[in-house]
Amino acid sequence: ASGLRPRRHRHLLRHVLNLEDFERMVEHRLPRAVFGYVSGGAEAGVTYQHNREVFAQWRFITRILRDVSRRSTATTLFGRTYAAPFAIAPMGASAVVGYDADNRMARAAMDANIPFILSANSITPLEELAQTNPHAWFAAYQKPAAENIQAMCERVAAAGYDVFMLTVDVPVGSNRENNIRTGYTMPLRPTPRLALDGLSHPRWLAGTGLRTVLKRGVPAISNIDPTQRPTIFSRTLGGVTGHAAFAWEQAELIRRHWKGRFVLKGILSKEDARIARESGVDGIVVSNHGGRQLDGSVSPMDVLSEIRAETGDMTVFADSGFRRGTDVLKALALGAHCVLIGRPFLFAAALAGEAGVEHAIKLLSREIDTDMALLGVSAVDQVDASVLR
Ligand code: FNR
Repeated sequence: ASGLRPRRHRHLLRHVLNLEDFERMVEHRLPRAVFGYVSGGAEAGVTYQHNREVFAQWRFITRILRDVSRRSTATTLFGRTYAAPFAIAPMGASAVVGYDADNRMARAAMDANIPFILSANSITPLEELAQTNPHAWFAAYQKPAAENIQAMCERVAAAGYDVFMLTVDVPVGSNRENNIRTGYTMPLRPTPRLALDGLSHPRWLAGTGLRTVLKRGVPAISNIDPTQRPTIFSRTLGGVTGHAAFAWEQAELIRRHWKGRFVLKGILSKEDARIARESGVDGIVVSNHGGRQLDGSVSPMDVLSEIRAETGDMTVFADSGFRRGTDVLKALALGAHCVLIGRPFLFAAALAGEAGVEHAIKLLSREIDTDMALLGVSAVDQVDASVLR
């Protein structure tokens, strides 16, 4: 039960040999505005490009003649053991890109036993998603107002989430010129230009666009302010970015009201990592938001080591531009416990629904497993700085 028939999936997925292939496969299948929204970065795309190039700065030093016949990519995060050291990153408005994409990514993640993180900017109600995947994590932007924080924490906890991620690198929306050029807005505002864009991609329109409207009403952002019940018109609740006045005090307020694990996403400075640790945060995501926020910012890979020196017992995630098993292993070697990956999983859901996401997870898992053997390690905790030059 996905956007395309299973036979077609198998045919399409035969051409997808790695995570980057998904983007090439969907580029012409998606309306320009939708593809641009997912693939794009901020301003000149300097950080977006750097996120891919940065990995070449490190090379592996392999170890030989070690018995690597029994390998495991198992990774324990917050007391739960997952199958691999990567997770599906939170992405807003996913269901506009691929039909029911949040649920499909969440289901594939659950079946493969990797973490899935739901964005508060998704159009799938957080309660519904928790039914699909009871182990999903939740990610909100630096909202809402202080007086709503307790209610927000209660709603997310009542739905069954154990991990609350607060995305802290969006005090204001960034300048994404590709969205201006194509007419993409969030929440989605139907315009003649968008309609034309959709009509010229009839397969997306029938397979995702119209079906989403039929299921959810006019696509809107439903979990923006988690104190509010999602409705078709919930876009009237406010903007989709963070709140410029939101500061450490509010993060600490969430810490006080949230009984589960609390993670800050979007940290690039070691000073902020230290404040996070002192504030009782359980984990941080070292991230430049996939090059979608401040253009010219460093890649997580540039700062992972120095940040790791400040993190103590916190769980450390990294994201932005990870596409290969070798990329993941390089981050683990610099001290990350797990990597988040965004765009490829959303493109996979757009291309082939749950089967596409399954395929993506399998490809990356296999790369990590093979690369570990070639590197001469049998478990992820054996990957340390000594494997890198
Ligand atoms: C994002 N990202 C994001 N992050 C977040 O905390 N909340 C959100 O709602 C979103 N929304 C979102 C939408 C889309 C379409 C993309 C591509 C990304 C950022 C995301 O969680 C992650 O940090 C990056 O996507 C990681 O970079 P890569 O793997 O896409 O290069």
